[in-house]
Amino acid sequence: MTLPADARVHALVPAAGAGRRMGAALPKQYLTLRGRTLAEHTMARLLALASIERVVVAVARDDPWWPTLPPASHRRVETVTGGDTRAESVRLGLEALLGDAGERDWVLVHDMARPCVRLSDMERLLASAGDDGALLARPLTDTLKESDDQGFVLATPDRRRIWRALTPQLFPVTVLHRALVEALEAGAAITDEASAMERAGWRPRLVTGRADNIKVTEPADLPLAGFHLQQQEEEGLRWQDSG
Ligand code: CTP
Ligand code: MG
Repeated sequence: MTLPADARVHALVPAAGAGRRMGAALPKQYLTLRGRTLAEHTMARLLALASIERVVVAVARDDPWWPTLPPASHRRVETVTGGDTRAESVRLGLEALLGDAGERDWVLVHDMARPCVRLSDMERLLASAGDDGALLARPLTDTLKESDDQGFVLATPDRRRIWRALTPQLFPVTVLHRALVEALEAGAAITDEASAMERAGWRPRLVTGRADNIKVTEPADLPLAGFHLQQQEEEGLRWQDSG
């Protein structure tokens, strides 16, 4: 299954978080690894995809860091103000896209906090999105435990069908917007795009992504992301701006 031949693809990058769990002096997307901020690493990868028409970035109100970075003034990049939750930031970004988006517009939503995503993963996602969209994900490798309120084991659920959801996630713009607005109005806990789509009765496809596409969340993730970036450089991977 692939995207319709006349599909237009946009990217949407939620980047309005404060990075509380990281506990750094500034939001984690502006920390530097291998000479560039995490935001620059992430944007370089998205802007290397020629099939992406434009990239909408949702940043916090009064964010003083984002406007100083080169990608903020890139011809294909548009900045909007995000919201109090990731889902709200995504909703606001989708509304910016809806200005001139219709049935043939798709959106690749990717966390700014995932700077190690590979082009090959994004290309595979674009190539395997069915009618109901798709997301990068990883099968679980650890044994799962369900706990009671006191911290004792209640059960060991079968992990064979359990996946960790990553980003990017790829969906039609108008359908995702409707699903997300309905979920937010219903007060549903929405931590990724797929969960809003599932709630609306869609069945997104799981596309196995690479393990190095980590979300930088806690302090220990930072050296790990640095390691993955270095490995990718040593593999000779390049992110050439596609214009
Ligand atoms: N995000 C956003 N708007 C929010 C909250 C988060 O756009 N109100 C973005 C973050 O900037 C990040 C992505 O969603 O790129 C994933 O969120 P997360 O890893 O939770 O980042 P933070 O919310 O910044 O971190 P924390 O939860 O530790 O504060
Ligand atoms: Mg958060």
